[in-house]
Amino acid sequence: MPMWKRRSLPRTFAPEECLGAMPMAKEGSMPRTESERAMIERFAKRYELARSDVLLEIERAACGCDYGATSWTTLDEARAVAGIMALAPGKRLLEVGAGSGWPGLFLAQSTGCDVALIDLPLSGLKAARERASADRVPGACWIAVADGSAMPFPDRWFDAVFHSDVLCCLPEKLAVLKACRRAIRAGGRMVFSVIFISPGLSAAEHERAMASGPPFIEFGTPYETMLRAAGWRVTSQADLTAEYLATVNRVLDREKDCASEIEELLGADEAAQMRTRRHAAVAALEDGLLRRELFGAVPIGEDD
Ligand SMILES: C[S@@+](CC[C@H](N)C(=O)[O-])C[C@H]1O[C@@H](n2cnc3c(N)ncnc32)[C@H](O)[C@@H]1O
Repeated sequence: MPMWKRRSLPRTFAPEECLGAMPMAKEGSMPRTESERAMIERFAKRYELARSDVLLEIERAACGCDYGATSWTTLDEARAVAGIMALAPGKRLLEVGAGSGWPGLFLAQSTGCDVALIDLPLSGLKAARERASADRVPGACWIAVADGSAMPFPDRWFDAVFHSDVLCCLPEKLAVLKACRRAIRAGGRMVFSVIFISPGLSAAEHERAMASGPPFIEFGTPYETMLRAAGWRVTSQADLTAEYLATVNRVLDREKDCASEIEELLGADEAAQMRTRRHAAVAALEDGLLRRELFGAVPIGEDD
């Protein structure tokens, strides 16, 4: 029976059951573009390396975690998110774009809530599954390869939905926000961080911001408007730009100290490209071209 048709889902899925090939179609059977496939491939490679000593050391120094994170969510931010979403044993959390389990598994571990993790690269979810079992995450844990716009769960099944810097990594932002809306129960809450281009820039500044941010940073509609169109009411919006800049600088500092290990791991070209991207992000942040915010939202019509 397809997973989404079951009345109750099993406590964990074996990788053969739940992890599989990346779904080629998004909601409405939209094919993936070349640039989406390239982005997913980049994340997949990154998660394969996630448990290398040098990357974990940098992650600990910069973000305070060691899950193989690829977002800019720090330990302090994850703790704050747990509070905003009132996570507790018996509550069900969905993390979209969960990568190798940060911060979804940490939230499950520290609050006792149940957690479902979805993403597209198999390598990240396999690492998440190993971490969940090594940590003996106390609640139920479901892990599935799935697109954020077409999720394999019953509607209104989750008390909380979270995603960290995911919407700036995919083109179909509205479709994902709508799918999150279908997933949340009445009275539930969604929290997410997103990096975006500051409003009111010149064409040249906009171009620079695009080149220094995540792969799908551009958005046609402001997030507040997009959220409303997807059936969400914004309840909080916190500016995390300064923290983002401080985190990128901490990463750069540690990467400088570990330059030879990083080159050995990634190869000289990729290590140099990564350094260039990070410096471009710092410069764009210092010039006010990029922002990172944490949104809180509740479903319209059910919590109003
Ligand atoms: C910045 S990473 C965040 C990963 C993890 N949560 C973390 O904090 O380290 C963004 C994630 O979004 C995932 N992603 C991109 N497009 C997606 C989609 N259509 N559906 C689900 N996940 C997607 C990527 O594969 C990537 O793992």
